[in-house]
Amino acid sequence: MKRSLKVIANWKMHMTVEETINFFERLSLLVSLDESDVCIAPAFTSIYPLAQAARGTNLKVGSQNVSDHISGAFTGEVSAHMVKHAGGSFSLVGHSERRSHYHENSELISKKILRCLESFLTPILCIGETELEKNKNLTDNVLTSQLEQGLKSLSPNDIDKLMIAYEPVWAIGSGNVPSSEVIQNIHLSCRNFLEKKYGHEVASKIKILYGGSVSEKTIQSLLSHNDIDGVLVGKAALSPDDFANIIKLSRELKK
Ligand code: PGA
Repeated sequence: MKRSLKVIANWKMHMTVEETINFFERLSLLVSLDESDVCIAPAFTSIYPLAQAARGTNLKVGSQNVSDHISGAFTGEVSAHMVKHAGGSFSLVGHSERRSHYHENSELISKKILRCLESFLTPILCIGETELEKNKNLTDNVLTSQLEQGLKSLSPNDIDKLMIAYEPVWAIGSGNVPSSEVIQNIHLSCRNFLEKKYGHEVASKIKILYGGSVSEKTIQSLLSHNDIDGVLVGKAALSPDDFANIIKLSRELKK
């Protein structure tokens, strides 16, 4: 099955509202935003202004996180419903920085996925092994357990509504990227796991993205593989010119 491309920016804790708008204006001069392949996850404060600026285009705006609660006395939290109503259409869930700095476990992550689905946000479940786990040859076990636990409360009918982002923790922000063959094999084993659990049709629909030090230099080899359906870009997505080049190259490769 042919899966459509996604190029997603994860801005982390960068970009004021003004910087967001300037970025958008520059990006829209550099690439067409008529297709629905470009997505940006800014900080919560920039979701609404970016979604407003992007009206009339097909740029998708989303969040980097959502609360595991629906609403209520949870000071400092933002719900999936609020993200949706601010103009969001997706959310990252379980990014490794959330898992490590904010102690998010699989229980919490699986609740967040449910909250996204209830509010019609596409959850993007982030999974990945640490360097230590990789060195101990535990990558497969870690990823399988993160998938199993993260998806455990979902109804089989909802599984194809989510995307998966494989982000080796040691590759994020480090400039070290596994070889594209290694990534392809890991994506394929994730897809095989999904196939065993949910069947071929569902597994073949799910987009599996790669994230971790993606740049203009690495994009070419990454997207030449069948099971790498797109990318999640951190640092290189903070410059509209670099991000535009990644988008252009990605479109060429996945034509
Ligand atoms: P990076 O970040 O591209 O800066 O490595 C990716 C991510 O954390 O999603």
